[in-house]
This record gives sequence, structure tokens and C-alpha cells, in this order.
Amino acid sequence: MDLFSKIAGSYDKIIRGFALDTIREFIKLVPDKLLLDLGGGTGRVSTELDDHVNGCILLDRSFEMLQQASKKSRNLLIVQGVGENLPFKENSIPQIFANDTLHHVQFQNETLENCHCVMTPNGKMIIREYDPEYWKTKFLIFFEWVLLFRSTFLSPRRLEEMCQKIGFSVDWQRLSKSTYLLNANKPN
Ligand SMILES: C[S@@+](CC[C@H](N)C(=O)[O-])C[C@H]1O[C@@H](n2cnc3c(N)ncnc32)[C@H](O)[C@@H]1O
Repeated sequence: MDLFSKIAGSYDKIIRGFALDTIREFIKLVPDKLLLDLGGGTGRVSTELDDHVNGCILLDRSFEMLQQASKKSRNLLIVQGVGENLPFKENSIPQIFANDTLHHVQFQNETLENCHCVMTPNGKMIIREYDPEYWKTKFLIFFEWVLLFRSTFLSPRRLEEMCQKIGFSVDWQRLSKSTYLLNANKPN
């Protein structure tokens, strides 16, 4: 059992609530389209975003995290799976949000390639991550290392490069000194 599965019952108490209001203006979601919350865990984010899109699929590899999500909402479409092998048809997902997920994913490039594959042309993926080059992030890196999370943090420039190689067009912005939001769009 991985660590997220072990702490699933306490995850929402350990992590602060998802402050949608503070980043809402930066997350350009399309209201009439379906959203995939990749590595959505306990649904902390999905439950906030569900009202702003036309249906929300919450995918996570941890059954225990998803069990917590299922207690919160009956509206979410909950799927157990991994980013490296998404169980969706090619060109079927119009928008993806991955909040605080990618650095926990073991095979990041495969996951980004898979996202590109299942996304519709013109589809958009939004990734919220921590910049390992900012000094305060080093504490988080150390903390996750102590907990044996095996995280791999990517700088915005490194992630931009990876996404561009796959075929996304990319822009990104800082949300704070330590966090950034990267938009990866699949061309038509
Ligand atoms: C820090 S939690 C973030 C959860 C949620 N996005 C949030 O902001 O509350 C990271 C999540 O990524 C999931 N995860 C890790 N590797 C994954 C993978 N390869 N595919 C799908 N989910 C993964 C974990 O199970 C965990 O629920």
C-alpha cells in the first residue's frame, strides 16, 4: 500500500483546503466541457471545480483516496487508474487539471504523452506545481523525501520543455514564489 493510501483518511486534515478563489482567475476552464482531475485524490479540488465545468472525472491510482472522494460527492465520476495508462479513448478529454500531482507521478513523460493522446484537439491541460529552484520548496522536497514519497519536482522551464517535445504549446506563470501554473494546449 502506498503512502497516500495509508494517509487517505487524514489527508484533508493534513493538507489545507483548496483555495479556489485565490487562483480561480488563472485557471481558464471551459464551463461547457468535461474535466479530468488527474491524481485528484480525495476530491479536494474536484468538488470545488465540479460546478464550473460540465462534469468532472476524478482519476487517481489510490483506491483509498478515491473512497474518501466518494463520501464527499455523488456527482463525480470516480476512476481508479494511473496517468501513465489512462483508460480513455484517444481525443476524448477536452480539459485536464493536475494539482500537486505530477511530482508524485513516477513516469512523468509517459503521463504527459498519455494526456496528449487522450486530449481532444484544442484540449487544454493545466498543471499546478512547485518550483524546486525556489529555496522554500527545498523544505517540501526534504519533507517528502523523509516520508519516502519518491517525488520528482520539475522547474517550470523543464516541464515546458518536456511538454513542447510532446507537441503541446505551452505558457506558464508564477502563482507565488514557490508555485506555478503551466498551461499545455494540444494544437488542432
Ligand atoms: C498530493 S496528492 C494531490 C491530490 C489532489 N490533486 C489535491 O490537490 O488534493 C497526489 C495524488 O496523486 C496520486 N498519484 C500519484 N501517482 C499517480 C499516478 N501515476 N497516476 C494517478 N495518480 C497518481 C496519489 O495517489 C495522490 O492522490
